Amino acid sequence: MINLISNLGQVTAVIGSQWGDEGKGKATDILAEQFDIIARACGGANAGHTIVVNDEKHVFHLLPSGCMHDKKIIFLGSGMVIHLPTLLEEIDRLNKIGIDIVPRLYIANSAHILLDFHKTIDGALEEQRSKKKEGVIGTTKRGIGPAYMDKAERVGLRAEGLKSSEATLKEYIAERAEVVEKRYGIKVDRKLEVKNLIEAKKLLGSRVVDNGPMFLNESLEKKKNILVEGAQATLLDTDHGTYPFVTSSSTTLAGALQGLGLAPSSCTTCVGIAKAYCTRVGSGFFPTEAEGETAERLRTKGGEFGATTGRPRRCGWLDLRDLQFGAKLNGITHWNITKIDVLDDEEMIPVAINEIDGKIKYKELEGWQSSTENLSNYDDMPEKAKAYIEFIEEVTKVPVALIGTGQGRSDIIIR
Ligand code: GDP
Ligand code: IMO
Ligand code: MG
Repeated sequence: MINLISNLGQVTAVIGSQWGDEGKGKATDILAEQFDIIARACGGANAGHTIVVNDEKHVFHLLPSGCMHDKKIIFLGSGMVIHLPTLLEEIDRLNKIGIDIVPRLYIANSAHILLDFHKTIDGALEEQRSKKKEGVIGTTKRGIGPAYMDKAERVGLRAEGLKSSEATLKEYIAERAEVVEKRYGIKVDRKLEVKNLIEAKKLLGSRVVDNGPMFLNESLEKKKNILVEGAQATLLDTDHGTYPFVTSSSTTLAGALQGLGLAPSSCTTCVGIAKAYCTRVGSGFFPTEAEGETAERLRTKGGEFGATTGRPRRCGWLDLRDLQFGAKLNGITHWNITKIDVLDDEEMIPVAINEIDGKIKYKELEGWQSSTENLSNYDDMPEKAKAYIEFIEEVTKVPVALIGTGQGRSDIIIR
């Protein structure tokens, strides 16, 4: 018996251990019920987290996927880069289904604001890369890299800026626009940038907290518990991922805690999210990538199209070395293996376990060729599907606590 739900830490995190889109949103939505505060820590609207509630699909880019639960405090951490019009759009979308998130939304003062020109720069840099030998990164073109460049250059605008006057914001945009236009040869729409800031200031100015880390730490002292929703994933980490084909933030548990201002020792439960196979969007290393008809089959069955950009995801097989790496880097205490149902029809399932002389060694596991769709009880799983799960546990030495069997909230086995 693994019993994750009765052993959740006061700070619990959901962290992707492949190249993203593992199903972090769904896990967060399911675990959210047990928590007082749901927090995003890093990244921005490059994330696309999907949940399906009552057969309705909802995609979150900036707000955490726990928003559908009543009364939960929603927190956007210092490590984030926030595109305000996207945030307002998400707030509006929730409003339309009767959820007023603003009164329970808190934004860290030191989160960075991602401006429209960051997106333009992202596009321009990709265009430049496309002419070089290495080619494009295949970014989401959401301006993530350029926003973090401004942060590192120490010229970024932070959420606390939403408390300053219209004149100050105008001045900031005018100054940055001049630099950016010279540096990249792009055109900045100053009026639009200012308009976006003023609009956001009206609704969200009062939602910016003076000290993000203290807000969370004081909540912990008051016995509140926090669920951290990681974005992107370990192999997209700027330090430890498949550089340069990575995102520009720290996507590990350590990065998420840093992004929130929580002590490394505060998090005692880290739920690693891994697909039962593997996908990647954008360019870069993917040693277990499948080709042709096999890739197409996984893509179709798994609905593998980007939640943010709609791009077809590259598909391939589970690489247990990724999970071993993810377990080490993040201190994963439990796995959520997602999308096991996508493998239902497979005859044989290759799983990468090793590499010898540059050649990947696979273990071929027998497929179960029967449906695991919508199962919620481990005992009901076909024996061969259980063997697949137990092989992951054996190699990674981490228990599988959750198994995804479909898109819906109830399509999950909790062991
Ligand atoms: P995230 O970025 O990690 O939150 O994942 P995405 O939302 O980008 O992609 C995961 C996709 O898989 C979404 O469309 C989910 O609805 C879907 N999904 C999540 N878990 C399962 C599962 O167990 N089975 C199936 N069939 N789909 C799932
Ligand atoms: P979630 O949170 C999958 C990938 C992009 C690209 C690289 C850099 O939904 O799992 P960026 O726009 O961040 O500069 O792009 O990172 N990428 C993701 N891939 N899921 C994500 O987020 C991603 N966020 C970024 O495709 O290869
Ligand atoms: Mg996603």
